[in-house]
Amino acid sequence: MTEWQKTDWRSKPRVQMPDYTDAAALGAVEAQLSKYPPLVFAGEARKLKSALGQAARGEAFLLQGGDCAESFSAFSADAIRDTFKVMLQMAMVLTYGAKVPVVKVGRMAGQFAKPRSAPTEMQGDLELPSYRGDIINELDFTEAARIPDPAKMLQAYTQAAATLNLLRAFSTGGYADVHQVHQWTLGFTEGEKAAKYRDMASRISDTLDFMKAAGVDSDRAHTLQTVDFYTSHEALLLEYEEALTRLDSTSGKWLAGSGHMIWIGDRTRQPDGAHVEYARGVLNPIGLKCGPSMTPEDLKVLLAKLNPDNEAGRLTLIARFGAGNVAEHLPRLIRTVQEQGANVVWVCDPMHGNTIKSSSGYKTRPFDAVLREVQEFFAVHRAEGTIPGGVHFEMTGQDVTECTGGVRAVSDEDLSARYHTACDPRLNASQSLELAFLVAEELSSMRDARAAHVG
Ligand code: PEP
Ligand code: CO
Repeated sequence: MTEWQKTDWRSKPRVQMPDYTDAAALGAVEAQLSKYPPLVFAGEARKLKSALGQAARGEAFLLQGGDCAESFSAFSADAIRDTFKVMLQMAMVLTYGAKVPVVKVGRMAGQFAKPRSAPTEMQGDLELPSYRGDIINELDFTEAARIPDPAKMLQAYTQAAATLNLLRAFSTGGYADVHQVHQWTLGFTEGEKAAKYRDMASRISDTLDFMKAAGVDSDRAHTLQTVDFYTSHEALLLEYEEALTRLDSTSGKWLAGSGHMIWIGDRTRQPDGAHVEYARGVLNPIGLKCGPSMTPEDLKVLLAKLNPDNEAGRLTLIARFGAGNVAEHLPRLIRTVQEQGANVVWVCDPMHGNTIKSSSGYKTRPFDAVLREVQEFFAVHRAEGTIPGGVHFEMTGQDVTECTGGVRAVSDEDLSARYHTACDPRLNASQSLELAFLVAEELSSMRDARAAHVG
């Protein structure tokens, strides 16, 4: 086999990518991006891969979340901080409740390009190309706004770099210090889950005081004061990905320099397609979305292509079937993985199979369905004797009204109040925390069951 090249995807069938009209402008942007520094380094991607290897074995748990689509207009330090803060809160709930380390990966610093269910969109009598994310075109419903503009890749790169810079500062500059656990509760002053969180935070503080008094704190202080926070996005816009691909001099392998982890979407996972061709050649951890149409035959080919050396942590399978459909689809894929002896991390995305149109006309997701899909995912793994390795969802730290339900019950009529997503509906901070408590309960009951089995 000839060696993989970062341009090989160009000779494969591509779907869900824009047809840029100005080839010269595109070429100029690609040339410029190719000279820019990568956003991440190979050692970081390898470290994440090893953490995901632990998740595959049940020794850690992946928490992956963030915007459906990052946008240029919603870019702000506050929005980044709030999403980061909610991820820390959720991770704390999971670590404390389930007693496993949590691998934190944001859908951030590069999550711009979107696959769409139709190439065009109708409003009244006007039909225009679909919006494909701020890295490609604009949300405004005008002909000009929907023309793909390669220069947007440069703006996306700049925003991703600034986002990652702030995330790195938050992760190591004191904000993520576990001693701040009480500060992270700000914004959740009411409700049962807020009280539950405060109670947990107090117990964590007590433990920290005890550790300090007992002299434990100082040795491992660094572990408690910083977090490893990684970035991820769907590797959809391959011109952008290719331009940021770099050779890692340590290993001689290629790195997708656009983010720590990249994933292949449910609409672009054709085994002989361009997206699989690109992803198979880079050393990063790779996610693969698995929806109801994923067949065991395709999965078998994809396992072999994407992880030929069966490396632990290399491949994460992100199941997104919709509540009520998990028992029908997940077992056959689990069995395929078992038959192949493949090393994978099984992750549940309870968002993308549960999108509906509300009576008020908004695209939404009932929070009940989100919770149910998570429970079904755990139930299937319990029945199959396999390991649920993580969750993947769309959320924001902002107090939005995009998904219905939750303890602070958002109704169909409430959706219009603060519906801000550039694409799919996200969980708000309170719904995210509620979900974390549910996942922690599922994980600790699995742990208890395993302990009882061993004992
Ligand atoms: C997404 O994660 O935003 C997405 C489009 O997911 P999927 O490919 O699973 O539909
Ligand atoms: Co989405």
